[in-house]
Amino acid sequence: MGRPSSAKGLGTRLAAGKALGAWLSTPLSRRLPLGEYIEDEVGPLGLDQRDRALVHEMVVGTVRWLLLLDWLIRERLRSKKYPNSIVQSFLLIGAYQILMLDSIPPHAAINETVEALKKTRLGRLSGLLNAVLRGIARERDKLLGEVIPSLPLHLRYSHPQWMVERWSRAMDQELVKRILKANNERPPLTLRVNFQKVKRSVFLRRLKASGYVAREGLCSPSSVIVEDRCDPRVLPGFDEGLFAVQDEAAQLVGYCLDPRPGECVLDACAGVGGKTAHIGELMGGSGEIWAFEPSLSRRQLLRSNLERLGVKAKVILPRDGDVLNYTGDLRGQFHKVLVDAPCSGLGIIRRHPDIKWNRRPGDIDSLSRLQLRLLSHVFKWLRPNGRLVYATCTYEKEETSELIRAFLEGQEGAIPLDISEVLPNMGHCEKFITQEGFLRCLPPETDGFFVALIGKA
Ligand SMILES: C[S@@+](CC[C@H](N)C(=O)[O-])C[C@H]1O[C@@H](n2cnc3c(N)ncnc32)[C@H](O)[C@@H]1O
Repeated sequence: MGRPSSAKGLGTRLAAGKALGAWLSTPLSRRLPLGEYIEDEVGPLGLDQRDRALVHEMVVGTVRWLLLLDWLIRERLRSKKYPNSIVQSFLLIGAYQILMLDSIPPHAAINETVEALKKTRLGRLSGLLNAVLRGIARERDKLLGEVIPSLPLHLRYSHPQWMVERWSRAMDQELVKRILKANNERPPLTLRVNFQKVKRSVFLRRLKASGYVAREGLCSPSSVIVEDRCDPRVLPGFDEGLFAVQDEAAQLVGYCLDPRPGECVLDACAGVGGKTAHIGELMGGSGEIWAFEPSLSRRQLLRSNLERLGVKAKVILPRDGDVLNYTGDLRGQFHKVLVDAPCSGLGIIRRHPDIKWNRRPGDIDSLSRLQLRLLSHVFKWLRPNGRLVYATCTYEKEETSELIRAFLEGQEGAIPLDISEVLPNMGHCEKFITQEGFLRCLPPETDGFFVALIGKA
């Protein structure tokens, strides 16, 4: 007989199972970011910070290990098939807790997950769930110690086979393994201190005084790593705009652009404004930033981020944010141009493991065509002697080095520049600079990022 389950334990498993089920059953072309499915479930429950974090951990962790967990479960299903997507998600969430979450004893994980399924219309299948999870729990040590380490790389590290094959053709095997491993680790919570408002040392003291464990990052002079697992909105100074959440590699992009007070700067793909705000901060109170972003919801978030961080430079947000559709004449207008291009995002899998399953191999070529179009389109808006920074959070050569080579060959007046000219007191970043003068950041130190610097004759 199982032990009695707590209402909270059951509630968190139910929320996790439902969020995962909703994500799994949405067709690829209509999938939203994973966090939105989690928020839909936990939002109405009024859970405390700890329980919210547990639901998040269970869903994101399960998606991280999806292929491996799926393989282990199917091995134990008579027909090798799931009865339906709800039972599938409870099986996956249960197996994740048993194999990957040391903080939860397997018997508690099984009990809470089985009780949670009973609360759905599929309670009659709880016997199957119970039997499979108990089988996995019985074999836990053997699975972790012998079976999983002997599986092919893509299964062992739970990545699509095409992705591992692609990386194995482009990089040496040790690097591929390092990336696969890093992609499965929980990423650090990295902040960019807002130098307009506070010094890094002062902000660190404030964090520590509030009981957080935090330290300076290694690459970016404005970075702070918080060791505690928490929602950044609860950290001291959030409402005052003392920091933005931003990985160190993404912070370096702003420094590579090196915007100066009084300049006119284009942020061609602004998203929610992570880099727009950094550009504004580096420009101080003077200068103008044109920020293009076609998604209305992202433009709204961008506005509120700029407001919270107190950006003083003038920011222009064209109404139709598609930079390719802009009909006004901006030729030769900008001192600096940033193209933080839409990309496959394979460098940020550790933060967004759903990217692994949402991408298809064909996406890379179509994205690289779009990236080249964007680059060529905005290059004419750059002034002579101006500088353009091209950034992507991926390693794929079609979206990075090969793309830049093709652009430089085909674009009159474009000059390759060495990124080491502009990086702040290089230190730890030095190892990320390639022979061609590109920046290629890699996990686990940072997210996977590529940055190229291009000048105009
Ligand atoms: C990598 S994200 C940008 C992230 C952002 N710079 C930041 O730091 O938060 C790429 C963005 O480009 C936008 N985008 C896609 N096509 C675009 C276009 N034609 N014109 C402008 N932005 C575009 C996407 O909506 C997406 O938000």
